[in-house]
Amino acid sequence: MARYALLISPRADAAYFAQSQEVARAELAAHMPTAEIESISHGDMHFLTLEAKAIQLTTLLRLSFVQGVFELTDGGLTPVNQTAEFALHPDFIWGEKYRGKTNETLTQLLINLCLAEHPLAQTLVDPMCGRATTLLWGMRYGLKTAGIEQDPQAMIDLQRGLKKWTKLHRTKHKLDQGWVHKNNKHGIGKSLDFSADGAFMRVVTGDTADVCTLLQNRKFDILATDIPYGIQHLGGKNTRSPLETLKAAAPAWLASLKAGGVAAIAFNSYLPKRDTLSEVFTDCGLEVLSTQVEHRMSESILRDVLLMRKSL
Ligand SMILES: C[S@@+](CC[C@H](N)C(=O)[O-])C[C@H]1O[C@@H](n2cnc3c(N)ncnc32)[C@H](O)[C@@H]1O
Repeated sequence: MARYALLISPRADAAYFAQSQEVARAELAAHMPTAEIESISHGDMHFLTLEAKAIQLTTLLRLSFVQGVFELTDGGLTPVNQTAEFALHPDFIWGEKYRGKTNETLTQLLINLCLAEHPLAQTLVDPMCGRATTLLWGMRYGLKTAGIEQDPQAMIDLQRGLKKWTKLHRTKHKLDQGWVHKNNKHGIGKSLDFSADGAFMRVVTGDTADVCTLLQNRKFDILATDIPYGIQHLGGKNTRSPLETLKAAAPAWLASLKAGGVAAIAFNSYLPKRDTLSEVFTDCGLEVLSTQVEHRMSESILRDVLLMRKSL
């Protein structure tokens, strides 16, 4: 065992704002539940410190808030000379900028919270995947990923982005378009497959409530998604709350998870409230886990994550 200091990245401050230290602590505690975590500061640099084994360094380096890991010795802080060993160039995640994109750091947090509960997970589904920030993050972790998105333009933009980044970084890859079932009306059933660096992603255009049929009843270890906040995205049927869409989709989301699988849903806790959202999924049989990472994004968005497990 050695004592390590994890430097909190400015990216985490940008994602979690005033609550960045609390969110960082919650993420670290989810992975190291028995560790004694302390906060220290050097000038404007803020660290979380803990005792850990060298074998746990990759996990620490992969935490969403971490800019660098240092070993604490009598002489001070020694940077750990190790990388997080992610697949794909970071530009695949951070390169694209578009309205409604989920914050990249928050997306990584969602996956990390799930992996803390399910370290052996190999597959991930995002049933409201937009332009695939979560799926690409999943690929960086080496997961096989799949997603559903109702907006046909998202697939067009995603494909353009993938072509750009694979060309720029000379990434050996496969990119194929197809149909899971033919229904040309609004492009429903259109699919895009992307594989690179040993990881895989499939995106299908369609309604989230049809996730099982659109993904041919495949089951996943992790469901991670960022639902519409009722600000940039309407919640379906032209209401501002995503609740009706989620009620209709919840049984299919549950069915798309394997027994023992874990779900992380990012949401604006003003709409719907945590209890109301929890009820939608507990009614279907998911168990809500205790982790909470509430943080303010703006005056109208207080973001939180609902973490749940499907029983074995
Ligand atoms: C917060 S955004 C997710 C953004 C995504 N994580 C990204 O970074 O690109 C929510 C997404 O849910 C999609 N959505 C809303 N209702 C849906 C439905 N019924 N079926 C499928 N997708 C839906 C929206 O079109 C939007 O792209």
